[in-house]
Amino acid sequence: MSQTTNTSTANGKVIVCGEHSVVYGRDALAAALPCGVEARAVRADTSTLSIDGRRLKPDEPAVTALACIAQTLKTPPCAVDVTLRMPVGVGLGASAAMAVAVTRAVATLYERGCDQETLLRAAHLWESEFHGTPSGVDAACAALGGCLLYNRHRGPVATTVGRPLYLAIAVAGPASSTKAMVARVAAIRERDHRQFELALDHLQTIVQSAQRAVASGAHAELGALVDENHRLLVNWQLSTPAIEQACSVARTAGAYGAKLTGAGGGGCVLAVGDAHTQPLIARAWEQLELQTLSVCIDATSSNDPPQG
Ligand code: MEV
Repeated sequence: MSQTTNTSTANGKVIVCGEHSVVYGRDALAAALPCGVEARAVRADTSTLSIDGRRLKPDEPAVTALACIAQTLKTPPCAVDVTLRMPVGVGLGASAAMAVAVTRAVATLYERGCDQETLLRAAHLWESEFHGTPSGVDAACAALGGCLLYNRHRGPVATTVGRPLYLAIAVAGPASSTKAMVARVAAIRERDHRQFELALDHLQTIVQSAQRAVASGAHAELGALVDENHRLLVNWQLSTPAIEQACSVARTAGAYGAKLTGAGGGGCVLAVGDAHTQPLIARAWEQLELQTLSVCIDATSSNDPPQG
């Protein structure tokens, strides 16, 4: 998304493969969405935050998060207005997009330099208010755009998109808590560390193969990997009947593969299609009265992420 003098913006994201395993130091493949969040900041005596016109109470986590950003940037108080241009709380990274857009708005207002590192640090503090141990993948997509291979130790690396990648996304279930889903996976890990490590290794192989499939434009292969990733997330009890139904409807409508995306327990489903099947998948979901989003990820979706 672009940035004007008064309005700062940041993108939402979709995780193609590797959610949750990315929390444990494995890679995730993710892409920025064309939609996201806008933020405007003006000077004020005390810091306030409004989202879509609703003024938040001072003890709400987002207001605490705003204070963390001001602390990181060493800025005086300001009043920030946020406009959401994407679905929220459904695994598409709205919280990180908000963090990045707000940080940019505050930095612009007070003419603070805001390099990538500062932006990601501020976004991390904000995200920590909401879900404890964020891997940083959402913030990296929000800040950098494009298609990324992300690792919490090595950071983001831009990934080549060999052919336009048509993704259909549906909001299959009500909002879920990322914090609760991350805790659910941590409990599974506690029950059997060895089994969990094997699943992480399997997910790492899937993500690396998925990256190669995206780079070479092998979308049928990517679909099979997406299905495999989904089965592992089902084993971690992250799916729901509504997610299963949305995945199955997408496959019947011609998707190469479909999976939950984001934290799970509700939220969104992602289907890999092509120019022909993408609208068919969206229509099939709309018949179930699901909110849908159709995106095309291509080489030009890039927002100059670091090359690697
Ligand atoms: C949330 O979008 C993705 C998770 O992997 C959590 C994280 O990476 O911080 C579930």
